[in-house]
Amino acid sequence: MTTDAELPGPEAEAPTGAAPFQQYDEPVAFQDLVGQTHAAAELNPDAEAVLSVDNLRMYFPIKTALMRRTVGHVQAVDGVSFEVPKGGSLGLVGESGCGKSTTGQLITRLYKPTGGSMLFEGADLATMSEGTLKPLRREIQMIFQDPYSSLNPRHTVGAIVGAPLRIHNVVPKNKVLSRVQELLEVVGLNPEHYNRYPNEFSGGQRQRIGIARALALQPKLMVADEPVSALDVSIQAQVINLLQDLQKEFGIAFLFIAHDLAVVRHFCPEVAVMYLGKIVEIGDRASIYSNAHHPYTQALLSAVPDIKQAATGGRRERIRLTGDVPSPIDPPSGCRFRTRCPIAQEICTRHEPPLLQIGKRHKVACHFPGRLGAHPREPITARLLGVDTTGAPDPGASPATDLRQQPGYADTWFDLDAKSIGRA
Ligand SMILES: Nc1ncnc2c1ncn2[C@@H]1O[C@H](COP(=O)(O)OP(=O)(O)OP(=O)(O)O)[C@@H](O)[C@H]1O
Ligand code: SF4
Ligand SMILES: [Mg+2]
Repeated sequence: MTTDAELPGPEAEAPTGAAPFQQYDEPVAFQDLVGQTHAAAELNPDAEAVLSVDNLRMYFPIKTALMRRTVGHVQAVDGVSFEVPKGGSLGLVGESGCGKSTTGQLITRLYKPTGGSMLFEGADLATMSEGTLKPLRREIQMIFQDPYSSLNPRHTVGAIVGAPLRIHNVVPKNKVLSRVQELLEVVGLNPEHYNRYPNEFSGGQRQRIGIARALALQPKLMVADEPVSALDVSIQAQVINLLQDLQKEFGIAFLFIAHDLAVVRHFCPEVAVMYLGKIVEIGDRASIYSNAHHPYTQALLSAVPDIKQAATGGRRERIRLTGDVPSPIDPPSGCRFRTRCPIAQEICTRHEPPLLQIGKRHKVACHFPGRLGAHPREPITARLLGVDTTGAPDPGASPATDLRQQPGYADTWFDLDAKSIGRA
């Protein structure tokens, strides 16, 4: 296991806060650094889900200052469904404000969701009482983005890493220190540094402290919210390698939240792309990075130099999205991406596109899904919705509604090439 101390040169810290698109100006790419020692994580198609999220929603109420009357809602997460396999990783990507962190915070039950379910090993976290939830809190831990603000500067590393052990009473008091030292060693830190304070460590080392704290209770699932985006690219690679080692050693599943598609590609065999509270495309690595069918995913991928060519059908140009992300308080009708979509048509204003299964592990929410430059001219969803090509009611047609609520990775799928509904 490598440590920050072995790195040549000083550790430059990138500014915190998620930029919508990563600019890859670094002389060395993350992909090259991380690939030197660790191969990209592989999908285990037979793994059961440790977490199954279905139609998850979080609407934050907007209240007036004086009367505390609810005058609207921020639709931060609006009908999100996905699975995290046991010991595997699902990446959650999207621009700032699309609801990634809120999704992670719902899973750790920082918030109680407005609706939907979150089955963790069969038990629904969404509706559980605090009492029932308490023992499960040990099993689901969080790693935070900012290694500066997420550690209390007045507490020693020993106190920080040992806190979960004391709170959950998992080891006798006289064994806490030795357990803390073991954990520090596991994450590549000097176990003798337990009595130091966070400001005595570099950004990468502080993130290792955060990881040791999350690891203390031997969780089955970690929600890693932008765990490396505040770090310099070379440190990012080391922390990702550490997480990969820990995942293999302890069989931990990850919901890995990031805006950086290169990082996610290495760590996550499956990726979900979010836009304005919804998943617009979800699939295995090859489907997302080499065969994206949603215009938004294609635009995001075109901003990553080393995968740009595959994403843009061999073309080198970057697809620039114009306009701002609309407000989640009053999202656009129909497809939420339509105000920025280069191929939007009338039906996009009228109908929200259903999430269609277009491959064994590939789903897309778009009326015109297709490879870049090969998006169909007519909406493939018209028959499903029972409408004409503009989205207006079609008197002779009836909607095939049974196809609209396919949960998870069902075996019924919509074959785009055959333009027919069939069985895989
Ligand atoms: N407690 C809250 N109350 C009201 N609105 C909230 C709350 N938390 C988040 N939001 C709003 O919900 C939306 C989604 O926020 P969220 O933090 O989940 O986005 P994100 O994808 O994690 O963004 P970033 O990449 O910037 O971290 C945003 O519009 C945000 O302002
Ligand atoms: S449904 Fe329409 S607006 Fe939405 S992504 Fe597809 S083409 Fe663009
Ligand atoms: Mg966030």
